[in-house]
Amino acid sequence: MTNSFEQAIAASVAALGTLTESEVLALLAIPQDPSHGDFSLPCFTLAKLLRKAPKAIAENLATQVVLPPGFAKVVPVNGYLNFYIDRAFLMQQVLGEITTKGTQFGHYPRRGERVVIDYSSPNIGKELAFHHIRSTMIGSSLSRIYHAFGYDVVRINHLGDWGTQFGKLITMYLREGLPTDPASLATLEIKDLNQLYASFSKVAKENPELEDEARAAFTRLENGDPFHRTLWTAFKNATLKELDRLYTQMGVVFDHYTGESFFEPQIPAVLAELESKKLLVSSQEREVVLLDDLDLPPCLIRKSDGSTLYATRDLAAALHRMREYQFAKCLYVVDQGQALHFKQVFATLAKMGYDWSNRLVHIPFGLILHLNEEGKWEKGKTRSGHSSLLRDVLEAAKEKIITTIREKNPDLENADSVATQIAVSALAFNDLKNRRLMDVKFDWDAALSFEGATGPYIQNAHVRLCSIGRKAGYVAEASQVDWSFLTDDHSYELVRILTRKSEKIRQACENDEPAILAQYSLEIAEAAHRFIHHNRVLGTEQERSRLFLVQCTQIVLEDVLQLLGVFPIRAM
Ligand code: ARG
Repeated sequence: MTNSFEQAIAASVAALGTLTESEVLALLAIPQDPSHGDFSLPCFTLAKLLRKAPKAIAENLATQVVLPPGFAKVVPVNGYLNFYIDRAFLMQQVLGEITTKGTQFGHYPRRGERVVIDYSSPNIGKELAFHHIRSTMIGSSLSRIYHAFGYDVVRINHLGDWGTQFGKLITMYLREGLPTDPASLATLEIKDLNQLYASFSKVAKENPELEDEARAAFTRLENGDPFHRTLWTAFKNATLKELDRLYTQMGVVFDHYTGESFFEPQIPAVLAELESKKLLVSSQEREVVLLDDLDLPPCLIRKSDGSTLYATRDLAAALHRMREYQFAKCLYVVDQGQALHFKQVFATLAKMGYDWSNRLVHIPFGLILHLNEEGKWEKGKTRSGHSSLLRDVLEAAKEKIITTIREKNPDLENADSVATQIAVSALAFNDLKNRRLMDVKFDWDAALSFEGATGPYIQNAHVRLCSIGRKAGYVAEASQVDWSFLTDDHSYELVRILTRKSEKIRQACENDEPAILAQYSLEIAEAAHRFIHHNRVLGTEQERSRLFLVQCTQIVLEDVLQLLGVFPIRAM
C-alpha cells in the first residue's frame, strides 16, 4: 500500500521531466512530524541541476505536479514538497481490503516453493526443559510466517530418539527389575524415565562397568534385538505422550516426527556414498570427513565400535529431506551452541557435491537467563522455588494468570483454558519480542504483567477490540461507514500501522526474525488502546464507522498473534 503511494508520487513528479521515477523514489522520505505530510520530496539536490533555490523549486513543482489519486494536497515548505494522503480515501481502501481478505490480508500469493523447518527437536527420554521453549516457539512462529510469505512449509520434529542414552535407560530398567509386559510398558511416564537416568548416573559412579553395559545394550538395540526394541519403543511413547500434551497446550504442530532413529536404515547408503566419493578418512580410530581446507575440525562419521553419530544422521536427514521435499530452503532452529555442528554437516554435503547445501540454514538463538539470588542474570536454573521444567513453568504461569483473572472477572467461563492461553502467550511473547540471537531475560513478574511489552498486554488489546464488537451486538458494514468520521489522528495512526502488515511479514521472513512481528503486534496493540481511549465507539454518532475500524484492527491483530504462534483470546 505504502509502496503504491510512493510509486504514484514518483510517476507524477517524473511526468514533469527533470527527474526519473527511480530518482524520485530514492529522494522521497517519510517526515518525522506527521504535520509535514505523509511523504516529503527534498528539492536540495535539484538546486544545482536547475540553478534555482530549493524553496523556489519546491514552490514551482507544487503548482505543476498533478496530484496523484489518493492524495489530498501537496504543499511546498522550505525546499520540501510535502504530500498529504487523503485520509478518508486511505481508510476506505485499506479497511475495504481487510474486510475482503480477512486474516489473509497482507499475506503473499503461493509461490510453489517449499521450506522445511526443523524445530523443537528435543531428546527422547528427558522432560522438556524451559529453554526448549526457544526452538519450539521460534520455529512454530517461523513456520507460520513462511507460510504467510507464500511458501509451502514442512514442519519437522527431528527427535533425538537414538544414541547411547537409550542403552543407559534399558540397562537401568532391567537392573531395577521393572515389569516388561506390554500393559506395564504402556503405562510408563516420562518422569519414570527421568528417574532411571538419575539412578543410572548414581549407580554408574560406583560401578563404572555399567557404562559398558549401557553401550552393549545400545549395540543390541542398533542390531535390532526385538526385546530392546520393545523397551525403546515404550520409552519413546512415554515421551511422546508428554510432548503431545505440551505441544497441544502451546498450539505447536508438526507435519512429521522423523527423529534420528528414522534415518538408521539410510545410514549404510550415506556411508557408502562418502566412501565412493573418497571423503571418508580414518583418524584416531574414527572415520571422519576432513574439512581442514575450510578451517573446520573434521566431521565425525563413525566411531571405532562402528556406531554412527549425530552428524551422520543429520547427513542422512538432509539427503532425505531433499529427496522428499525438494526444498527451496531448509531451516534448523537450534541453539547457537550447535553452530559448528551445522557448519560441518553443511560443508560435508557440499564436499559430496550437493550444490543445494547452500539452501541449508542454521537459525541460531540466544540463551534464557534467570535472575539469581544476588540479582544478577545468569544461565541455568529458574529462581529458587521454581523448577526449570517447561511444564512446571507453564503451570506456574497459568496459576499466576488465573489469580488475576479471578479478581477481575470472576464469572468468566472457561477461565482455566483462557489462563493457559494467556500464560503461553506471555512466555511466547517474552521469547519472541527481541531478536533471536539476544539472550532472553526471564523475569516472572515482567513477563506475566498486563502492562508493558508483554503477551497479556497484547491479548488485552485484542480482547478489548472483540468486546466492543460484542457490546455493539452487530457487525458494521463498509456501506454504513462515513469515512470522514475516520480522519482524526488516532484513527489515521491506526490505519497507517495496519497498512504495514505485508511489509512486516516480508521483513520477518527475510530475516528469519519473529521479533519483527512481535514488535509489530505491540505497535498495533498500543495504537488500538490509544484509539479506544480517545475515540468512544459505542453510543456516539460515529459508532458504526468507528466500530468498522475496530473490527478491521481486530482481524489484523488476530492474525499477527497467530503468526507469532499465539492463540488470540476473545474474552477474559
Ligand atoms: N535433538 C537435538 C538437541 O536436543 C536437536 C536436534 C536439532 N535438529 C537437527 N536436525 N540436528 O540438541
